[in-house]
Amino acid sequence: MCLLHPFWSCCCVLVLFSLGVQGAPGAPSATPEQVHLSYPGEPGSMTVTWTTWVPTRSEVQFGMQLSGPLPLRAVGTSSPFVDGGILHRKLYIHRVMLRRLLPGVQYVYRCGSAQGWSRRFRFKTLKNGPHWSPRLAVFGDLGAENPKALPRLRREVQQGMYDAILHVGDFAYNMDEDNARVGDKFMRLIEPVAASLPYMTCPGNHEQRYNFSNYKARFSMPGNTEGLWYSWDLGPAHIISFSTEVYFFLHYGYHLVEKQFRWLESDLQKANQNRAARPWIITMGHRPMYCSNADLDDCRWHESKVRKGLFGQLYGLEDLFYRYGVDLEIWAHEHSYERLWPIYNYQVFNGSQERPYTNPRAPVHIITGSAGCEERLTPFVIFPQPWSAIRVREYGYTRLHILNGTHVHIQQVSDDQDGKIVDDFWVVRPLTNRMMYL
Ligand SMILES: *[C@@H]1O[C@H](CO)[C@@H](O)[C@H](O)[C@H]1NC(C)=O
Ligand SMILES: *[C@@H]1O[C@H](CO)[C@@H](O)[C@H](O)[C@H]1NC(C)=O
Ligand SMILES: *[C@@H]1O[C@H](CO)[C@@H](O)[C@H](O)[C@H]1NC(C)=O
Repeated sequence: MCLLHPFWSCCCVLVLFSLGVQGAPGAPSATPEQVHLSYPGEPGSMTVTWTTWVPTRSEVQFGMQLSGPLPLRAVGTSSPFVDGGILHRKLYIHRVMLRRLLPGVQYVYRCGSAQGWSRRFRFKTLKNGPHWSPRLAVFGDLGAENPKALPRLRREVQQGMYDAILHVGDFAYNMDEDNARVGDKFMRLIEPVAASLPYMTCPGNHEQRYNFSNYKARFSMPGNTEGLWYSWDLGPAHIISFSTEVYFFLHYGYHLVEKQFRWLESDLQKANQNRAARPWIITMGHRPMYCSNADLDDCRWHESKVRKGLFGQLYGLEDLFYRYGVDLEIWAHEHSYERLWPIYNYQVFNGSQERPYTNPRAPVHIITGSAGCEERLTPFVIFPQPWSAIRVREYGYTRLHILNGTHVHIQQVSDDQDGKIVDDFWVVRPLTNRMMYL
């Protein structure tokens, strides 16, 4: 009841107001939350992104000392994001790019404004140039409910085991739900991981509501496509992230399929001109071309859309990736782990019978979508096709160690088996002639 003295009634309105606009009732609404990092693609830089519930300045204070004052400062911008749900909840997304950072060095930072600061976080900058060995944790399909692999990932990230994360689509289940509160919950949940290293993403089908607006607003990926497709260099690798969803949600625009395809082709061309310096080309997209799961997903169709394109002939990706000698294709969507033998057009192209992944004659595919979500795990068919090398129906994630220009090490970590490695293999390719798979 608010029939009180004007002072109290005003207070009451304020309380109701703050409950209405804030994510967490009682927290100061100008205090940053949902802090996360991404790599903007320029050597020596890092982008910090966070959320507030009122407009404030966007500032990051940083330095190299663990305690004491943070001597360095960077300012950025904030933009309001209005969710598409009936409450039209408004978030202020802040972005600040830190530049001229020293390579391979630990920094401490906090973000916010005079109206409220985040706690301090730490990250290590990426090294420059191709001559180092990045380590990544890779997975898709991580939800706000049942995020099975997250505690282990968090421990390993805090131990400094990784340089970056690749989240191959499908977040929160779903970020738009409950008037985007599920998105807020998810972004808070991943903060201990995502505020400590670049958290690189691509969109999945669960992001599609309101034209992928929660995805586009909340993350800050390189390039000018709001994170739908982009690429970046990491040590000896060129990493391409793209949207498989343009092939499925056509009402948002047919032209996106063509636009992305043209961009992919020109990016692959450029990457191949630079291939002597960065021999690995690694792609990440949400829905696989092939899979052995017992469901009716696109990857179960002989002419899957991602593989063969629209109407089985327009803008298919298998030919494109094969033609430009892509080494490794990472997928998710299926809530399981699967590794394929080197494959092109349903034919297996082992390097040799004994060492299938040494000088493979076609791209290598892995599907890693078992980080954990409310939909649980996806079963496999009983009799997989001969192109399927291994299938694991356990929660977990993938480690990708890009050792140098010729050697990449891939491991699958089972969270169900307390961190046991349930798949372990090397892809080895020569330094030269990487574009040719003939
Ligand atoms: C959906 O998003 C894409 C990419 O951001 C944009 O080009 C397109 O115009 C949007 N479509 C609608 C209907 O808003
Ligand atoms: C590829 O190599 C694997 C492992 O040696 C083997 O089981 C499979 O039969 C090979 N496939 C072809 C087509 O050579
Ligand atoms: C990459 O590392 C492997 C394993 O240590 C080594 O055998 C190989 O020669 C290295 N390649 C290059 C180009 O340095």
